[in-house]
Amino acid sequence: MAQKHDLIVVLDFGAQYSLLIARRVRECNVYCEVMPHDTPVAELRNRNVKGVILSGGPASVYENDAPRPDTKLLESGIPILGICYGLQLIAKDLGGEVKQEKKREYGKAELIVDDETNLFAGLPNKLQSWMSHGDTVIGLPQGFKQLAHTENTKFAAIGNSDKKIFGVQFHPEVVHTSKGIEIIKNFVYIVCGCQPTWTTANFIEQQVKEIREKVGTDKVLLALSGGVDSTTVAALINKAIGDKLVCMFIDQGFMRKNEAKKINDLFTERFKVNFIHINAAKKFFSQLKDVVDPEKKRKIIGENFIRTFEEEAKKLGEIPYLAQGTLYPDVIESAVPGTTTGKVAKKIKTHHNVGGLPEKMGFKLIEPLRLLFKDEVRALGKELGVPEDIISRQPFPGPGLSIRIIGEVTEERVKILQEVDDIVVSEIKGARFYKKLWQSFGVLLPIRTVGVMGDKRTYLNTVAIRAVTSTDAMTADWARLPYDLLEKISNRIVNEVPEVNRVVYDISSKPPSTIEWE
Ligand code: XMP
Repeated sequence: MAQKHDLIVVLDFGAQYSLLIARRVRECNVYCEVMPHDTPVAELRNRNVKGVILSGGPASVYENDAPRPDTKLLESGIPILGICYGLQLIAKDLGGEVKQEKKREYGKAELIVDDETNLFAGLPNKLQSWMSHGDTVIGLPQGFKQLAHTENTKFAAIGNSDKKIFGVQFHPEVVHTSKGIEIIKNFVYIVCGCQPTWTTANFIEQQVKEIREKVGTDKVLLALSGGVDSTTVAALINKAIGDKLVCMFIDQGFMRKNEAKKINDLFTERFKVNFIHINAAKKFFSQLKDVVDPEKKRKIIGENFIRTFEEEAKKLGEIPYLAQGTLYPDVIESAVPGTTTGKVAKKIKTHHNVGGLPEKMGFKLIEPLRLLFKDEVRALGKELGVPEDIISRQPFPGPGLSIRIIGEVTEERVKILQEVDDIVVSEIKGARFYKKLWQSFGVLLPIRTVGVMGDKRTYLNTVAIRAVTSTDAMTADWARLPYDLLEKISNRIVNEVPEVNRVVYDISSKPPSTIEWE
């Protein structure tokens, strides 16, 4: 791929913040990728890298197996910014002194700026900084200057402007550091000389060109789920190749109320793509008859989905390309083994998405979002005319409502949960909580309880309401929704959904619970 944009690389030393640093650089409209900490200088030169940021990391530079960059990096002439562990590496390798501290410094610290050029150009001389480190630099390497200090840390920022090597002990990428983004901007614009060309409009133009060149006169198949990623991919590829894009929407029968129709309308009326709506609900319900085990359910749904896709794709004749909505964090997770971003998590649930469709079918892949973060995808979708309610939609799992129906999944039970879900979503939206929550939904339980309605005994279903806050779904906290809102949701459900007479609120966090109930 021709390198059209300036490139900054974050070398990942195992920091939980590596991806965040890359996002911040991109917020400066400069393209940024995360690469393994020991990426050879030759490769960086090959990619014409304009600057390198060394991330933080949990190690101490004194540990024998501490991760190290290519030994030639600091002499390479490529501008460098070391953050935390990155700063300590620079200081130690260039002859400075780093002291191992028993106690970590953690939290906010007032930063006094001592040098108002380069990193701190145009910034106030007092800033709030966020510290999280064990080791501390106590002696400067030759040619370096102190650029900022805090009460506890003399060398909170250091630099050698001739060599264009800088280091900060604090974390400019986190929101607790005031003007952190300005410091990053100063590094990428002033020190590295990057141009801010990484914009949504440029990205669209470049992708449209690349997709056209790649597929020529061939067709591209896309499995649509109705979520922001696949819808944005559809809009983008549609812009590039028009009706040579074939979108297939497999309705498993577990969508939200009216959602299948909304997806149908959007793609037939608004985007006018080549849209195929497969109603496979009957098949899915019959396969799930009497199945209550969550993993069995997930396996059946996943396999059924793939089989349906294969059968339907065959009917379409020769289509060499399959488009997928793979995002950048997924790409990195599989590409950087051994770092925090590449850790292999123990399997808790068998996830099923429209991604990961059968490679054995021999498709060539098109993944136009593989360089993007979720917020960039949202901006892209917006620019391409994807409706706001899809762009700001909370995550919705591949198996849909089926994993929110505990026990057997039947058509009747899906209908009950659709009504419940519709009330939950509309009330949460009405109270302006929807965008503040990671997810909010109802769960249909396999128990009936006794109630009383209009002087009559009832014996009906129980539903649970689940609402969580989270930033990445790895951990989540149950949302402290106002009682009034919960009361309104509960009242509406028992009044409007005749099959339900009891509503409970889930007050468990992840871990130890998970977000979905199955
Ligand atoms: P858990 O329940 O494991 O969910 O805490 C974490 C996040 O993943 C979503 N989820 C899925 N997404 N296919 C998906 O695309 C799936 O099979 C699936 N299962 C769970 C869940 O909604 C939450 O956001």
